[in-house]
Amino acid sequence: MLTLTFHGHACFVIEGDRRRVIIDPFITGNPAADIKLDQLPKIDAVLLSHGHGDHLGDAVAISKRDGALIVATYELASFCESKGAKVHALHIGGSHQFPFGRVKLVPAFHGGAIEGDDGTHTTAPAGVVLTMAGTTVYHTGDTSLTMEMKLLESRVDVMLVPIGDNYTMGVEDAARAVEFVRPQIVIPMHYNTFDVIKADPNEFKRKVGNQSDVVILAPGQSIQRT
Ligand code: NI
Ligand code: MN
Repeated sequence: MLTLTFHGHACFVIEGDRRRVIIDPFITGNPAADIKLDQLPKIDAVLLSHGHGDHLGDAVAISKRDGALIVATYELASFCESKGAKVHALHIGGSHQFPFGRVKLVPAFHGGAIEGDDGTHTTAPAGVVLTMAGTTVYHTGDTSLTMEMKLLESRVDVMLVPIGDNYTMGVEDAARAVEFVRPQIVIPMHYNTFDVIKADPNEFKRKVGNQSDVVILAPGQSIQRT
C-alpha cells in the first residue's frame, strides 16, 4: 500500500513498504504548509525536481537530520553535497533502483538557478517518476506542457501536476498534460500558495472530465492506493 500526503505547494510525502520519501520539501517559509519541519517524521530520501527555493526548501536540513539521501540532477545534487547533504546524482532520462523504490528523472521545461554563498548556480530542472510499493507516481516539477509527457502515456498511476499558471502550466495546459499521460489519478499542485499562482482546482477537474480521477487535496490530506 502507498500513502501519499500533500503538504502544500509542490511538497508530497510518500510512504510504502515501511519507507518514507518526500518530494520538493518546501516546508519552512511555505505559506501553504500544514506542518513545521520538526513535525515531519523521519525521511529516508528527498527527491528534488529542481533547485528553486520553493522546491529545494528544507532538503539539506532533512538530509542532515535524518541521514536522508537527496536524489536530484547532478548539478543540484553537487550543490546539496557541498552543503553537507548525502546525495545520489541522476540525470534526465536516467533511473536508479534505491531501497525505497525506483526513481527516474524526465524532462521539464523550466529554470534552475540556485543562490549559493559563492554566487548563482545553474541547474537543470526535471520531472520525477517514482515507482514505490507497486505504484508509479509522476511529479512533473515546474514545467510547461511538453510533448515529452506523451512518452509516459499509460505508465503512470498517480500524476502530480501544477495548475497555478505564470511559472508553470495553468489549468488548461495541465488538463492537456493529463490527456498526454492518462494517469489513473491526478492531483493538482503549485497553486494558491502565492497570489500570482491563484487557480481554481475545480475548474481543472471540470476540464479533465472523466479521463482521469482528479483528487483535490488540501494541505495535510492523503490518498492511499493498494
Ligand atoms: Ni521553479
Ligand atoms: Mn515552483
